[in-house]
Amino acid sequence: MAEKVVKCFHQGPNVVRALDGVDLRVDPGEFIAIMGASGSGKSTLLHAAAGLTHIDGGHIRVDGQDLGAMKDAALTRFRRRHIGLVFQAFNLIPTLSAEDNIRLPAMGTDGLEARLEGLLDRLGIKERRAHRPDALSGGEQQRVAIARALVTEPDILLADEPTGSLDSVTGQSLCQLLRELCDEQSRTIVVVTHEPAVAMWADRVVVLRDGVDIARFATDGGHDPQALTRDYQKALAAERPAA
Ligand SMILES: Nc1ncnc2c1ncn2[C@@H]1O[C@H](COP(=O)(O)OP(=O)(O)O)[C@@H](O)[C@H]1O
Ligand SMILES: [Mg+2]
Repeated sequence: MAEKVVKCFHQGPNVVRALDGVDLRVDPGEFIAIMGASGSGKSTLLHAAAGLTHIDGGHIRVDGQDLGAMKDAALTRFRRRHIGLVFQAFNLIPTLSAEDNIRLPAMGTDGLEARLEGLLDRLGIKERRAHRPDALSGGEQQRVAIARALVTEPDILLADEPTGSLDSVTGQSLCQLLRELCDEQSRTIVVVTHEPAVAMWADRVVVLRDGVDIARFATDGGHDPQALTRDYQKALAAERPAA
């Protein structure tokens, strides 16, 4: 997915290398969790992977396509067809109801209403469908944002801390949904999280530090958040490899 990706931000007189040569391979149908401290580049990596941000070096490849080589219109079409993104800040449209927010990226497609009903049901937001985002709780907005990302049935779902506003029961049921999308529909899932209880649902964990992928390890199949926490702490404590 990402090959030696570099992304710089200018902050006043300073240049921050938010991504400093990240390599991340994600196989089709795989479920990956990206972990790392705040500011380590996780959100920047997801936005880059979704083709939403210009990168300063390297390549983003999705389904064999180099996103950097595509023209804007083609990229927009490709993104709409293949990639679902759940933003950390949800980015819902304030003037639209929950259900219209969810419909938006899939307007005019076959079976939309049935998919909408299924997602409202599955995410437990049926009773909230007619409300605008400002009348919804943070957790409800998050679930609307997830439904909006899934309504196009993307091959790859990128989700930035998708359980950050959810209580632990709702969070675990979302993880279960992601796991099923992966196991039953062969969708590729990339989730940013710092919760071991979320990351343990993934097949593999990739750890970022200062814009570099410093470690990766397999989970044990979703049963032991403590073991995962130990692996994660070990990765963070490891010496920075010599440049
Ligand atoms: N739009 C931006 N403008 C300037 N700096 C940014 C911007 N977005 C992110 N950064 C910087 O890039 C680094 C990585 O940020 P981010 O990807 O949001 O980290 P994370 O999601 O892991 O918390 C941080 O140092 C952050 O300050
Ligand atoms: Mg972030």
